[in-house]
Amino acid sequence: MNGLKNKKFYQLSREERLKCLAYNSDLSAEDLSRLTENLPMKTADSMIENFVSIYGLPLGIAQHFIVNEKEVFVPMVIEEPSVIAGASFMAKLAQSSGGFYASTTPPDMIGQIQLLDIDDFDHALQTLEAHKAEILTEAARVSPSMVKRGGGPRDLKIRLITDSAIGAFIVLHLIYDVQNAMGANVVNSVVDHLGPIIENLTGGRVHLTILSNLTDTRLAHASVTIRKEELAFKNYTGEQVRDGIIEAWAFAEADPYRAVTHNKGIMNGVDAVVLATGNDWRGIEAGAHAYAARSGRYTSLSKWEKDSDGNLHGSLEMPMAVGIVGGVTRVHPVAAACLKLMGVRTANELAEIIVSVGLAQNLAALRVLATEGIQRGHMDLHARKNVDS
Ligand code: MEV
Repeated sequence: MNGLKNKKFYQLSREERLKCLAYNSDLSAEDLSRLTENLPMKTADSMIENFVSIYGLPLGIAQHFIVNEKEVFVPMVIEEPSVIAGASFMAKLAQSSGGFYASTTPPDMIGQIQLLDIDDFDHALQTLEAHKAEILTEAARVSPSMVKRGGGPRDLKIRLITDSAIGAFIVLHLIYDVQNAMGANVVNSVVDHLGPIIENLTGGRVHLTILSNLTDTRLAHASVTIRKEELAFKNYTGEQVRDGIIEAWAFAEADPYRAVTHNKGIMNGVDAVVLATGNDWRGIEAGAHAYAARSGRYTSLSKWEKDSDGNLHGSLEMPMAVGIVGGVTRVHPVAAACLKLMGVRTANELAEIIVSVGLAQNLAALRVLATEGIQRGHMDLHARKNVDS
């Protein structure tokens, strides 16, 4: 580590850790004081209703992450011990094979419009189809600043729901590129605006206009290879650990009771970074679990397998609607400093880091579960107070 030689990050005092971050990142002295500052009372008061106090949670930094060949300090807000240590350790094991490789789809959100009281479904569906371009042009016209930034409406999907408790109705999906925002505000305003236009075209009644948190149009994907030699520890050979991890994953793949806990382990990593960067972790949680059930059976979000060299290969794909502009990301001083520490230039880059941390966290849990068991493994960690191995 530059600046503070001969010591690992977890061996440093808190002050030394901060110095190390400043030395190895673009954080200025002012950013550093933002990172350690709490949310000002006045800001907190302006964020919610009936405000009385600020509830603190620990913020730590995961080490050793290389995502798309770039080293990154990962800020994580979490109350659970061993999560940051586990992610850091797995990121370290991944280094000898290049770390994590991640990608994202374009930042396309879905705005839903529920259309009720339709007399003639065929006619309404045809009319909507025929006016698609016009509706998209109107969506762009009412959101000029997003269009100027390169975003805006991309498509309109028309769905017919037949088996609902209130009979059949139409649902429109406005697919909207939100660039570096999470996008809830712009998408909600645009679908609100489109409501009366859709009513005029179809003679129906627009009921709900709201963003969907199942952002299967805005996905993040990460993969990692861990050389089998890196997996050996204590009396376990690398092959034993690798096969144990694959067997543990197969359990989650086949059984929803296990898949929920397996995915919870992934979300330990994902939520902690989502929270540190001021993003909406409830939306990410809801989207993740719905995506895990997209086949009709709830299953694992990740996959672990043996590659042709006998190494362990893992991958994770999930919806990742996070922003680096707007909302709390800039209002909250700690979130703003966390984003700066990571040096992310786009929301997609942030999503790529988050999904990599989710995969690392999943691996950390499976590695312990498949060998000495979680209680034993965590006890060891606490005994050593070892947060980066
Ligand atoms: C605990 O927070 C997370 C784990 O239960 C995840 C898992 O079982 O895979 C250890």
